Amino acid sequence: MKPIESLVKDNVKNLKPCVHGAEVYGAAEETGFKAEEILDFSSSVNPLGPSQKALDAIINAFDRIEAYPDSNSNTLRQTLADHFGNINKENIIVGNGSTELMYLFAETFLKKGEKALMAAPTFSEYERAVRKTGESVKFVRLNNDFQIEAETFRRDMTGCKLLFLCNPNNPTSKLIPEEVLTEILDAALSQDILVFLDEDFLEFVEQERNITMISKIYEYPNLFVLRSFTKIFGLTGLRCGYGIANKEIVDLMLCAKIPWNVNCLAQPAAIAALKDEQHLKLTHELINQEKAWLNKELGQFRGFNFSAPDANFFFIDIRDTNFTANAIKHRMLKQGILIRDCSSFVGLNEFYIRVAIKTHEENLRLINAFKKTLNPV
Ligand SMILES: Cc1ncc(COP(=O)(O)O)c(C=O)c1O
Repeated sequence: MKPIESLVKDNVKNLKPCVHGAEVYGAAEETGFKAEEILDFSSSVNPLGPSQKALDAIINAFDRIEAYPDSNSNTLRQTLADHFGNINKENIIVGNGSTELMYLFAETFLKKGEKALMAAPTFSEYERAVRKTGESVKFVRLNNDFQIEAETFRRDMTGCKLLFLCNPNNPTSKLIPEEVLTEILDAALSQDILVFLDEDFLEFVEQERNITMISKIYEYPNLFVLRSFTKIFGLTGLRCGYGIANKEIVDLMLCAKIPWNVNCLAQPAAIAALKDEQHLKLTHELINQEKAWLNKELGQFRGFNFSAPDANFFFIDIRDTNFTANAIKHRMLKQGILIRDCSSFVGLNEFYIRVAIKTHEENLRLINAFKKTLNPV
C-alpha cells in the first residue's frame, strides 16, 4: 500500500489545521481545570446562553430524533422570511452553522483557476473554504485603523470571482462604513463578482436594522448575506446558520449541499429562539451596559490600546505591555480564564488579543485576572 499521504488531493494536503477561540477542551487538558470550570472569553456568544423557549423546543422535539429532519429546513426558512418581512423563503438557505455555508458557497461558485478576495485580518474560515476547493486567496490588508480602504479593495477585486466581507469584522470588532460597503458592492456588481457578506455579529449592533444589507439582495443579485444562530441566539453547539440571497444563488446551493444538514433539534430551537424577543432585549441591555463598563475597566491597563468595539468583543493591541498575546493567554489560563490570542490571523502579529463581553460577574473576574497578569496604571 502506498503511503496515505500520496493518495490525498493536493488542496486538502495543504490545508492548515483550524485555529479558533473556544478551545476550552485543550485549555482544560493544559491546566488541569475541568472544561466547565474555564471562563471562556475567546468565544463571542450570548453571555445569557440560549432562550429558555429554545431549550423547551428542543425537549419537545426529542421524539423526532428517530426520523430524518426536514432536509431543506422549510419551516425555519418560512419563519425567517416572516421575521424579516421583505424576503421570501426561496431567498433563504439554512446550514449546519453558518460555517457550512462558507464552504458551500466557495464549492458552488469557484471554478478552476479563480480567486477569492478578503481582508486581512478577518475570520479564517473564508480562506480555508476557498483553499479546500483548490483555488486561491488574495488578501487586502486593512489600514492602520483596521478599516477597509474602498479604493484598494476595488482595485484588488478586479479579476477575482468572489469577495468575502465581515460586518462587523472578526477579530477587529469594527463595522464597515456604509459608504465603503456600498462602493464595494457597486464595483463588484459591475464586474460580475459575487459578494459573501458575513453579518453573524451584526445582531449585537444597536442599529442592526438600518445597517443590514438583507433588503439589498434584490438590488444586488450578486450578494449573499450570512447570519447565525450561534452568536446572539446562543445556540452555539446545535449548529445552525443561514444565508439570504437571490433565489438563483440559493437554488444552486440547495442542490449542492449535503442532505439533512440541519438536525431535528436545531430547526425547532432556532424557530423558538427567533420568536423570543424578550430574551434578545435582555441580551442587548446586558451587552450595552457591560460594553461601557469593560471599555472603562480595560482602559486602566497600561499598554492596552483599543477603540470602542462595534460588536460584542474587544480587540486589543497589547504591544506596549511588553507581553506577547501567548504569554498573556497562558497567565490568564492559570487563573481559569481563556482569551483569544489573535496571532493566528493573517495580517496580525503576536501582539493582539480578543475578549468577549460576558455577564458582569464574569467580566469582573476577567478584570481581576488581568490585574494579576499586568500592572495597572
Ligand atoms: C465572523 C464569523 N462568522 C462565522 C462564524 C462561525 O459561525 P457558526 O457557528 O454559525 O458556524 C464565526 C465563528 O467564530 C465568526 O467569527
